[in-house]
Amino acid sequence: RTIRLADYAPPAWLVADVALTFRLDPQATRVLSTIRFRPNPDSTDRTFFLHGEGLKTISATIDGRPATLREAEGGITCDVPDAPFTWEAEVEIAPAENTALEGLYMSNGIYCTQCEAEGFRRITWYPDRPDVMAPFRVRVEGDLPVLLSNGNPEASGPGWAEWDDPWRKPAYLFALVAGDLVAVRDRFTTLSGREVDLGIWVRPGDQGRCAFAMEALKASMRWDEEVYGREYDLGVFNIVAVDDFNAGAMENKGLNVFNSALVLASPETATDGTYERIEAVIAHEYFHNWTGNRITCRDWFQLCLKEGLTVFRDQQFTSAMRSEAVKRIEDAQTIRRHQFKEDQGPLAHPVRPESFVEINNFYTITVYEKGAEVIGMLRRLVGAAAYKRALDLYFDRHDGDAATIEDWLQVFEDATGRDLSQFKRWYSQAGTPRLSVEEAWEDGTYTLIFTQETPPTPGQPDKAPQVLPIAVGLLNPNGDEVVPTKVLEMTEARQSFAFEGLSARPIPSILRDFSAPVVLQREVPSAERAFLLAHDTDPFNRWDAAQALARAALMDAAGGAGDPAPDWIEGLGRALADTGLDPAFRALLLDLPGDEDIAIALAERGDVPDPDAIHSGRARIRRILAERLSPQLEAAYHEGATPGPYDPSAGPAGQRALRNRALWILTAADGGARARAQVAADENMTNVLAGLSALLSIGAGEAEAAAFHDRWKDERLVLDSWFALVAGQAPPESAVETARSLADHPAFAWKTPNRFRALMRGLAGNHAGFHRADGAGYDFLADWIVRLDPVNPSVAARTSTVFSSWKRYDAGRQERMRAALHRMLDRDDVSRDLGEMAQRMLEG
Ligand code: ARG
Ligand code: ZN
Repeated sequence: RTIRLADYAPPAWLVADVALTFRLDPQATRVLSTIRFRPNPDSTDRTFFLHGEGLKTISATIDGRPATLREAEGGITCDVPDAPFTWEAEVEIAPAENTALEGLYMSNGIYCTQCEAEGFRRITWYPDRPDVMAPFRVRVEGDLPVLLSNGNPEASGPGWAEWDDPWRKPAYLFALVAGDLVAVRDRFTTLSGREVDLGIWVRPGDQGRCAFAMEALKASMRWDEEVYGREYDLGVFNIVAVDDFNAGAMENKGLNVFNSALVLASPETATDGTYERIEAVIAHEYFHNWTGNRITCRDWFQLCLKEGLTVFRDQQFTSAMRSEAVKRIEDAQTIRRHQFKEDQGPLAHPVRPESFVEINNFYTITVYEKGAEVIGMLRRLVGAAAYKRALDLYFDRHDGDAATIEDWLQVFEDATGRDLSQFKRWYSQAGTPRLSVEEAWEDGTYTLIFTQETPPTPGQPDKAPQVLPIAVGLLNPNGDEVVPTKVLEMTEARQSFAFEGLSARPIPSILRDFSAPVVLQREVPSAERAFLLAHDTDPFNRWDAAQALARAALMDAAGGAGDPAPDWIEGLGRALADTGLDPAFRALLLDLPGDEDIAIALAERGDVPDPDAIHSGRARIRRILAERLSPQLEAAYHEGATPGPYDPSAGPAGQRALRNRALWILTAADGGARARAQVAADENMTNVLAGLSALLSIGAGEAEAAAFHDRWKDERLVLDSWFALVAGQAPPESAVETARSLADHPAFAWKTPNRFRALMRGLAGNHAGFHRADGAGYDFLADWIVRLDPVNPSVAARTSTVFSSWKRYDAGRQERMRAALHRMLDRDDVSRDLGEMAQRMLEG
């Protein structure tokens, strides 16, 4: 059944308060609920409906009298008085049987919950929609050392604990955790002097891996006070790490639950990338306390209201903690690699979708990351000061509300006097605008003429022009900046902007700082790109010039062309040797587009990509770089050495990034000598994995990979990396066989999402391996998705998106991918999750 935004109706009944008692048992947990309902004055409907899924009802009463429940779609109804009343129920659920990991389930003997978006209905009968908010009191009973829930601890004794969350919240923010856990503790004093007890709860033995997450939490709390004026609002803030988790983490009020991969870190076991991600996700979940919890979403169509804003805030935080330029480039790269890909395929949808079958399928890069870009554009258009005024107004006006995108835009209109009706199209139109540019030069006046056009997406054949903030700077031919960055506000389909009083025809730097998530279509000679790589003052465009040159070289190489443009190699060499540039930035210059990026670029220009040709072209370019830039690469490699104790902060991490990108290229020409030595040197996980990955990518390193496995086989998070690496870096011709043998490995615990994803995403990321012409890669993925679907539909559905590119390839591959999609879809027991995804991929 399709749910539509247009059908939104306010709830008939509101909840005054909730009291829950849990009598925990793996097979038969009893949940007792006392819920006080009152009629919603804003609704004329008095139908009483409660969501529920898989609940065994033991008893149900209304004002103490047995209620007669009637089954309704997705829940129950019953007759109720026309006035406030109290609902009491007792239900039974089986957490140990819950493999979908939604609702209350068990992970390694630990009880935990995941209720967003619609998991609470698997716990008890309830109006499980975000616009029903209530304070919760929770009593947990169980013979376990730790019993946690939301809010402040009230009282506890042997085998029980009571929690009180005074803040009204929707059911999706409910959480309960119980088990044999230990806490790493700290304290935080808020700006106004509130003392907060901080706890990170982990399995015994993991206490030594929480320090970094704890520091990140305190830094987030401070940053949100300083930058957004937001203080924490309870006496405790708890974080729990669990191994089985469908997503990354969850912002439950006062009790965040995390995938352990995003909490636990030690220098021996975690990479720089892991540290950076932990810092960002800890911040993200913490920031949700205001953008998500205090102000929540009216309905799930408004998901970007909390996610786009919270991603934007965590991006700002990372920029402040690390390098602003590097962070911006990384975010732009994510958008282009993954969000543009979503927009170009059958799964394209607006930042605020208008219909869904299963909401889990809309926790997407479009809602999250494009949602954040839209906020970034808004901020760029109104300016930092007005953005701050608007946010203050937002918190003021909507604290305690379940709000909408209309509410969000209204605060900007009220704070700035701007009309945002056209801007709002960013929320309703799917697809990536294509921005093309013409230039004119006459009498000292330089004119840029822009044309915007957004290709059709499923259900949206025609698009109207959007508001595009285009940041532009102009350089003169000497390389000096003659016009510093200016934000042009484009609102028409075609629009020109003139710059007067110039003494020479300038070189434009367009879309600085990636000021809008659009594809800039402009034929630029390689000499001009090399000029920007050398002289642009904008780090994003400097990097982008290098990317464009690299992309062109790789596309040509995939078509069998000879030598890459000398401009690129020379420019890259000069930038690499410029030790005045941040090593992390230089590392990004060496980050070549991946095979799939090239496949997308080829498809964009109307070619049918050949995965094998792309792969071998890339290998050839890598060898050419290794040979021609060997002095600069060697120097970078040595400059990237970080002797002494491991330090995960941005400086040394950037050095290692430079070292390891140089290593990856150099390995193409040295038979793996350096990489082998780096693995043997065993300095830290970042360098070891980089060495191993470089070795595997040239078809070597088998012995090193085996030794790595033996050493780390008891470290579940490291073993995940091993699965991903071995499948991801296998030579394309044997990648499927490698994946098959990994699936037979005794440690392939396929019901654990991290392990499943490591192998499946590993193979799918091995572009030429996955797209093997005989379809063996497709069959492997499809078989496993079909197997997982009845066990964990949400992870199965998400994994299936690797098939969304099927129309990009040749007829043979198209046919095989389509057949794989049909195999997933045409089953009697296909889940709502996977069914919706496969259908959209086939139809879109
Ligand atoms: N709200 C969580 C976060 O962004 C993610 C929840 C994922 N839930 C889901 N149904 N996919 O931090
Ligand atoms: Zn979030």
